[in-house]
Order: sequence, then C-alpha cells, then structure tokens
Amino acid sequence: MTATLNRPEVGTGRVVWFTGLSGAGKSTLASALYEELTARGVPVELLDGDAVRENLSKGLGFSRQDRDTNVRRIAFVAGLLARHGVTVLVSAISPYADTRREVLNGLPNPTEVFVDAPLEVVTQRDVKGLYLRALAGEIPHFTGVSDPYEAPETPDLHLRTDRIGVEEGLGQLLRHLGYEA
Ligand code: PPS
Repeated sequence: MTATLNRPEVGTGRVVWFTGLSGAGKSTLASALYEELTARGVPVELLDGDAVRENLSKGLGFSRQDRDTNVRRIAFVAGLLARHGVTVLVSAISPYADTRREVLNGLPNPTEVFVDAPLEVVTQRDVKGLYLRALAGEIPHFTGVSDPYEAPETPDLHLRTDRIGVEEGLGQLLRHLGYEA
C-alpha cells in the first residue's frame, strides 16, 4: 500500500466495527487496516475479540447475556478512545443485531463492516479447529452451529471474504473510510 496521507477530519475519532462468524476474517482485516493506518500516522487502536476476552471480559462465556456484556464493554472502551480522536477497530462476532445497533448508535462515527463468509467456507477453513469440535457437540453455543448469528441487513460495508482477498478487502475499507488506497 502507498503511504498517501489523506485523512478525513483530523482529530475526529471513529469506530470501525467488524462483525461476522468465527473464521470469517474479522481479525485479519482489522489487523491489516491497523497496520496500514499506523503506517499513515493515524492514531489507531485495535480491540480484538480474543484479546478482550483474555483481559477486559475475562470470565465471560458465550450465553446471550455474556456476549451482550462483552459487546457493551468493548463499545464502552471504544467510545472513550474515539472521543479522544482515536480510530478504534473492533473485531468481535457480536452476533445479535439489536445489541450491535444499540452500541453502534451510541458511538461517534460508527462504521459497521460485515465480514461475510458462508458457514460451509468457515467450517472448511476451521483455522482454530473449533468448528470440528462444535459440530461434534463438544462446544455448546457455538456461533453459526448451535448459536445464532444475526447478519447485518444494511451494513456500511459488506466484505465477502470467500470471494476477495485481504488486499482487496483492505482497499475497499480504505476507500469506504475516505482514505486513498
Ligand atoms: S462475541 O459473541 O462477540 O462475544 O464473541 P467474541 O468475543 O468475538 O469471541 C469469539 C471468539 O471466541 C472463540 N469461541 C467462540 N466463538 C463463538 N462461539 C463460541 N461458543 C465460542 N467459544 C470460543 C472463537 O475463537 C472466537 O474467535 P474468532 O476470532 O471470532 O474466530
């Protein structure tokens, strides 16, 4: 990527919220965007599902209540950072549409990115080996298998990661967010 600096409204924070199934590519795209924005001198922070669950949300499980608590905690921190001018990238399954809507509505300059790959594809990828275990009934409440995922109906950006690679996804993100790719 070229390092053309073309920031939208310097000093204004924003939240880019990546939602999608486990293994759809949320963290990969969020990390790629993080690296690119950092290289461009943009103050950026990444709140990634796994890291959040090891720290801020340690002890929470995957019931609806716990997932909603997790998502609201992430949104709370994202809001604090964004109000101080940081571009915050959130990567979390965040499976419930009304909870996503609620938190996104309360955030400054929110962008909802649907990282979308069909269940068959993420099951085949099975990067962490979790789908195999979930399908065998070893992981209860596994999103997409034995727990719901409510896809956004009108996301700000819809990335089909079974059809496009990381570079293309990153390009679409940069264009959508107002940076020149
Ligand atoms: S949520 O629904 O937003 O609170 O989930 P999140 O915090 O993003 O955590 C998802 C990661 O936890 C692992 N994991 C599970 N995912 C879904 N369902 C169940 N039951 C589950 N148990 C563990 C999984 O590795 C998810 O990581 P990602 O990065 O999404 O692949």
